[in-house]
Amino acid sequence: MKMEHDFHMATGEAEDNYANNSRLQRKALLKTKPVLDKAVRQVCMALHPRAMIVADLGCSVGANTLLFVSDVINTVADAQHHDELRCHPMELQFFLNDLSGNDFNQVFKSVKQFTKSIAASHPKGVALPPFYISGLPGSYYTRLFPCQSVHLFHSSYCLHWRSQMIKDMDEKMSDINGGNIYIAKSTPPSVVKMFQDQFQKDMSLFLKLRHQELVPGGQMLLTFLGRKKEGVLDGDLSHLCALLAEALQALVTEGLVEREKLESFNLPLYGPSIDEVKAVIALNKLFGIDHIQLFESNWDPYDDMENDGMCSSPQHGVNVAKSIRAVFEPLLASHFGECILDELFQRYARNVERHLAEDNTKYSVIVLLLNRKV
Ligand SMILES: C[S@@+](CC[C@H](N)C(=O)[O-])C[C@H]1O[C@@H](n2cnc3c(N)ncnc32)[C@H](O)[C@@H]1O
Repeated sequence: MKMEHDFHMATGEAEDNYANNSRLQRKALLKTKPVLDKAVRQVCMALHPRAMIVADLGCSVGANTLLFVSDVINTVADAQHHDELRCHPMELQFFLNDLSGNDFNQVFKSVKQFTKSIAASHPKGVALPPFYISGLPGSYYTRLFPCQSVHLFHSSYCLHWRSQMIKDMDEKMSDINGGNIYIAKSTPPSVVKMFQDQFQKDMSLFLKLRHQELVPGGQMLLTFLGRKKEGVLDGDLSHLCALLAEALQALVTEGLVEREKLESFNLPLYGPSIDEVKAVIALNKLFGIDHIQLFESNWDPYDDMENDGMCSSPQHGVNVAKSIRAVFEPLLASHFGECILDELFQRYARNVERHLAEDNTKYSVIVLLLNRKV
């Protein structure tokens, strides 16, 4: 699979598609709303743009990207209403970006209803700023905008994806990762380094490109999966992916998946620690850090409990499997074929249920607010 051309979220039946299985990602948007609010106000007050240019990188489909759009509109409307901006009225231009395989038509179809509902939900007497919404296909690992033209970049639940499949340099890829599909306890150091090098290369490129596109003083809010512990073999994503590898290995044993297929597959993901993120930002010297935090989120998108106690049930396994399938399905289907997916995710749900009974592992989510150094 070529990430730039073929990667996208699941688009099929309503029950399985990303739009209906993205509650986990929605929870991150709700959690980061105060940081977004701060970034929007900072842009308004420092730059006083007549038209504020805002981009959501990796918008996907479904209600989440429009939730982000409505948060920005509401913050600007509120600031204008209370005369915090002490300046001329402002217009907003949103660019919703994703790879060209994304179903942009689905996003466009929901814009009309969104425009109606945001107007209807607004208190009388508070004027909404005029806003415009466009789609922008292309990889954020390439230039997307003219020089110094964007005031605010946002990206949620995307930057843990690498720009390309993790491959051995000589392309032989004969079982370099011992049947694992991500970094696991038995992953050799040379393979860990491949994942880490790809992260550093991608992140440095992303920072360089966005630095060129942001106006001086512009802001960038990035939320992505990371790792709580420094130890790279014991990351939160390692546990999640090891359970999927275990389900694939069972299908190999039963002859439903070819061993070579499994051995030549590594997920194009990397969950960095906070220190790794700080190091790559410091190395590039392009952005200052206004805010950095790590919060945890339950694997089950429907589990809103904040405790660390063990609580496992088959439903948790099923919910986790559905949310992972909505994201991984096209990638797995292109490598292993569609016909194994139902069986694979039934096994995965059982593996997750068993794991959560022993260890209430959570996602670690990194939130980063950066300002462009002049
Ligand atoms: C899990 S979805 C998150 C979508 C949305 N931000 C949300 O919060 O629901 C990740 C999205 O990132 C997109 N993505 C991954 N790599 C990308 C890249 N290089 N350029 C643009 N989009 C990318 C994927 O296509 C996918 O739609």
